[in-house]
Amino acid sequence: MTAKTPIPLDQLREQVGACHQCPLADGRTNVVFGEGDPEARVLIVGEAPGKNEDLQGRPFVGAAGKLLDDLLAVAGLAREDVFIANVLKCRPPGNRDPRPEEIELCTPYLREQTRTIDPEVIVTLGNFSTKFILKTEVGITRLHGHVQQAGRFKVFPIYHPAAALYDPTKRAALEDDFATLGELLGTRPRPEG
Ligand code: URA
Repeated sequence: MTAKTPIPLDQLREQVGACHQCPLADGRTNVVFGEGDPEARVLIVGEAPGKNEDLQGRPFVGAAGKLLDDLLAVAGLAREDVFIANVLKCRPPGNRDPRPEEIELCTPYLREQTRTIDPEVIVTLGNFSTKFILKTEVGITRLHGHVQQAGRFKVFPIYHPAAALYDPTKRAALEDDFATLGELLGTRPRPEG
């Protein structure tokens, strides 16, 4: 059996930009395809664009994005080193949770992005991306910080950075998990001792 040739990211971006498969398309200002290194070792998958992301057409540019940048630095990574995408490419109204039918219609795009980027590690941020990628009902509280496997990809679930904006006690767990990610990748020197 021969594997399907991955679709170039620019071509995928065009497809996603023209998507009207679900009603979220009617409310969007911009599609948020995702951005970063097309050959990244790490694909970061969030939930869905929020207000700022919808306005700018870029992922994680609001408060959670600022925190994500700081956490990436803990792993010894910069935004340009990774590729950042979301489960949904359009903003749900009022930032409500993604609906199952939206996830079903939108995630073939994420699947193609994953095949094209072919990362070493997929970092899933929060419950929605973790449950989708791992096909599990186990929650993020139990899974975060533990390497999992989905097909040929290593998956590393981490709390969604927005969780720390509502509950500052989550910040330490986020920093620990990003430090572990850096150790896994060899981008962060192991602490001495
Ligand atoms: N939260 C997400 O899950 N994704 C974004 O792009 C921004 C905030």
